[in-house]
Amino acid sequence: MGVSLLGDRPSTLVVSNNLNIALIKKELNIAIALLFRLGLLVGGRQERLSTLVVSIPRTGQNLINETCETSARDDPNISYNFCTTSLQAAPASQCAALRGLGMISIRLVRYNVTDTRCYIKHLMKNRKWDPYSKQCLKDCFELFSDAISSVKQATKYYNSKRYDDANVQISSVMDAVTTCEDGFKERKGLVSPLTERNRNTFQLSAVALSVLHMIQKGSDV
Ligand SMILES: *[C@@H]1O[C@H](CO)[C@@H](O)[C@H](O)[C@H]1NC(C)=O
Ligand SMILES: *[C@@H]1O[C@H](CO)[C@@H](O)[C@H](O)[C@H]1NC(C)=O
Ligand SMILES: *[C@@H]1O[C@H](CO)[C@@H](O)[C@H](O)[C@H]1NC(C)=O
Repeated sequence: MGVSLLGDRPSTLVVSNNLNIALIKKELNIAIALLFRLGLLVGGRQERLSTLVVSIPRTGQNLINETCETSARDDPNISYNFCTTSLQAAPASQCAALRGLGMISIRLVRYNVTDTRCYIKHLMKNRKWDPYSKQCLKDCFELFSDAISSVKQATKYYNSKRYDDANVQISSVMDAVTTCEDGFKERKGLVSPLTERNRNTFQLSAVALSVLHMIQKGSDV
């Protein structure tokens, strides 16, 4: 019995040691699993970081260049140089993502039409015009007044992501400058005093439409 008692103790000890070892093993496994998961987390972060690195070109000068490349390729009315020059001169464009560039291009259209409307008013007041030219300028003034409303409306639509509606409004700005310019063309020998401005506004609007199109196609989320 004594022997069996003596024999029991160590065996109990062994069992308890085994239990302890088993517990330690279990804890170690949990610890290792935790470390592994932490490692995975770190790996996940690294993945996110590399995604960030990949997405860095989606803003700044690279984005402006890429966007203008696409615009110029898809629309023969857009010159790459005009597009980059216009966008990069705009405040905050270097930090903008595609949606920001869309807003910026619409804003540029708005400044352009607002300034041209003011310029037409100035032209009518400060120069003597033949009746036909005077009528053309009057028509252009009306067209640009409507264009300002259109581009304001386009801004609202853009902000609420109604891109098709924004597109319609920007397109009507393009129609307006074309109609304005055509008025002068109809009379032989007449030179439009607004050709350069109309061309700028037309092309800026085309850039805005092109960016809208890219956003709709989901080039940017
Ligand atoms: C973007 O294009 C301009 C010319 O249009 C060029 O000077 C500039 O280096 C380009 N930048 C990048 C980041 O590609
Ligand atoms: C370029 O502009 C003209 C109007 O001047 C228009 O008819 C044509 O559809 C435009 N091209 C593109 C690709 O938008
Ligand atoms: C209209 O846009 C063109 C092209 O970006 C620019 O050169 C011109 O200065 C703008 N005019 C105004 C008044 O904003």
